[in-house]
Amino acid sequence: MLSPFAPLLALVAGAHAHGYLSSPMSRTGLNAQSGADTCPECTILEPVPAWPDLDAAPVGRSGPCGYNARVSVDYNQPGPVWGSQPVITYSSGEVVDVQWCLDANGDHGGMFSYRICQDQALVDKFLTQGYLPTEAEKQAAEDCFEAGELKCTDVAGQTCSYNPDCQQGQACWRNDWFTCGGFNDGSKCRSVDSSPLNSCYTSIAGGYTVSSKIKIPNYTSNHTLLSFKWNSYQTPQVYLTCADIKITGSGDSTPPSSSTVPPSSTKPTSTATPSGCATPVPTLAVTFNSKTTTSYGQTVKIVGSIPQLGNWDTALAPALSASQYTPANPLWTTKINLPAGTSFEYKFIKVESGGAVTYESGENRVYTVPKGCASDVTISNSWK
Ligand SMILES: *[C@@H]1O[C@H](CO)[C@@H](O)[C@H](O)[C@H]1NC(C)=O
Ligand SMILES: *[C@@H]1O[C@H](CO)[C@@H](O)[C@H](O)[C@H]1NC(C)=O
Repeated sequence: MLSPFAPLLALVAGAHAHGYLSSPMSRTGLNAQSGADTCPECTILEPVPAWPDLDAAPVGRSGPCGYNARVSVDYNQPGPVWGSQPVITYSSGEVVDVQWCLDANGDHGGMFSYRICQDQALVDKFLTQGYLPTEAEKQAAEDCFEAGELKCTDVAGQTCSYNPDCQQGQACWRNDWFTCGGFNDGSKCRSVDSSPLNSCYTSIAGGYTVSSKIKIPNYTSNHTLLSFKWNSYQTPQVYLTCADIKITGSGDSTPPSSSTVPPSSTKPTSTATPSGCATPVPTLAVTFNSKTTTSYGQTVKIVGSIPQLGNWDTALAPALSASQYTPANPLWTTKINLPAGTSFEYKFIKVESGGAVTYESGENRVYTVPKGCASDVTISNSWK
């Protein structure tokens, strides 16, 4: 069925790079962290009608979780480092921060949405190791995800705009989806956060974060999916990625009494982030150590892709303490409480007394807070 489009698909996939769900970390992003997906931002459904009717395209092979043709990986089934367990736990009714990562070379403008399908039996087909959902099941799930859009307008106080490239009367004239800035006026998706280049990881030209708040619906599941969908304005493309999540009841302050491992005997043992613990702790005290030789007046801070690390705003970055610093052991350290399962990117920075900032060199550091019984963890680094 895809063969008539195959040459075009190869051509377009080779020409641009685009975006993927990065917080909570998508299946695609986890596979990129493992090194097996060399272009997470290239999980593309194309060529399809993407604009102005945001809902027109059948998902086909891509399904609600995406198929990356560049590396021939179908993210609609669990794989070696994704899908066997949730990467984060939310409470029903909670307002949470989510983020996707856009490649600097593929900012096509447009609109995006986050969705949760409340038909667990349907979603379970996407959680079963060794089972690849059929295209009919992928479409049925997509229809369910569309019905479960987490509307921008559900979050009190959030600004929900219309896309400047959409005219009133067109199907895209809606502000329940999230919108990028205008493509034609040049503001595009990167204007949503106006974050610095490399504020998140992409493989081609460097990434920009795009952040939103969503409200988790009144629904509980020990394991379900959050699907992210971005409809490009510029190109006939839709980007689909999914993250594995858990949603507890809003009143659930007591941990489950028995094992949190799903009862199904077909569930494999995880190779990704094992929890193996009857009562996992929700929040960990994460100690960041950075051996950094500094001179008088300099401070070391940590800045990263999550609110606790300033959302890449160096003015909001927490400082490390030099109280244990010696010339032989130039230790800067701080302890920050983070929710178990949080995935983020970060860098250490040196800040002069006058405010000038120096970033570490190289790629962003990446980390996922473990889920388990331990309530604290230490990450030891040296300035690079
Ligand atoms: C959520 O759903 C449950 C079960 O259907 C219901 O008892 C509860 O009142 C709902 N809560 C809200 C805030 O709608
Ligand atoms: C989640 O798992 C626990 C422990 O197995 C079980 O008691 C609970 O009913 C499950 N919740 C849902 C929403 O399936």
